[in-house]
Amino acid sequence: MERLDCERYWEDQICKDRHRFAEFQSCLERNPRERIYDALKTYGHKTLLDVGCGLAIDYEYCRDIQIEYSGVDITESFVLTAQQKYPGVEIKVGRIQDLPFENEEKDIVMVRSVFEHLPEFEPALTELTRVAKHLVVIGWFLPPTDEEEIVLFKKQKGGSVYRNIYSKTRVAKAFKDNNLEIIEKIIIEKEDSSRNYMETWVCRK
Ligand SMILES: C[S@@+](CC[C@H](N)C(=O)[O-])C[C@H]1O[C@@H](n2cnc3c(N)ncnc32)[C@H](O)[C@@H]1O
Repeated sequence: MERLDCERYWEDQICKDRHRFAEFQSCLERNPRERIYDALKTYGHKTLLDVGCGLAIDYEYCRDIQIEYSGVDITESFVLTAQQKYPGVEIKVGRIQDLPFENEEKDIVMVRSVFEHLPEFEPALTELTRVAKHLVVIGWFLPPTDEEEIVLFKKQKGGSVYRNIYSKTRVAKAFKDNNLEIIEKIIIEKEDSSRNYMETWVCRK
């Protein structure tokens, strides 16, 4: 699969160094997710696709509320690790801009902490909307603001990764273009570090 340079960051910089891998894993595990699944449970849907699933941490949350989980991620080593941890669960390699799933194949399509790392989020949003039957759920660790900041961040330890903050106007237009309506926002407040902050938007098609 063709990848942009910025999409190789996780494979080349995180997966090849076991300390950075452990740091990445612990950072993801510290992100609180319970409130998101408490909310999703109330919609009564049966299937969820987690796009940019990383290590598929969300699988256990879905299992606990009887939602059938699938995951997809561009980073093969993450997919392999997740497949080994959760045998029998559908977890595949794929790009968010070109998902290996049919139209409306999954009730809920979720993305979390991924849009900020893309050079632009619009093609991804359209693709998530195509695969979702009912809900598109977007988790932002850098929620949209008035002022846009498109930043290709050079990491001290090597590699570059986008850390974009999109403008509210741009995001609102993309939602309108895809006929998405925000029906719930779940705000997780900052606790000890900014990594714990997360804004999750539940959107109806
Ligand atoms: C910050 S991690 C978030 C992982 C997971 N969503 C979570 O919250 O635990 C970002 C993930 O996005 C994936 N990713 C980046 N660009 C992608 C793309 N174009 N298509 C699919 N996945 C991508 C990375 O491989 C990485 O696993």
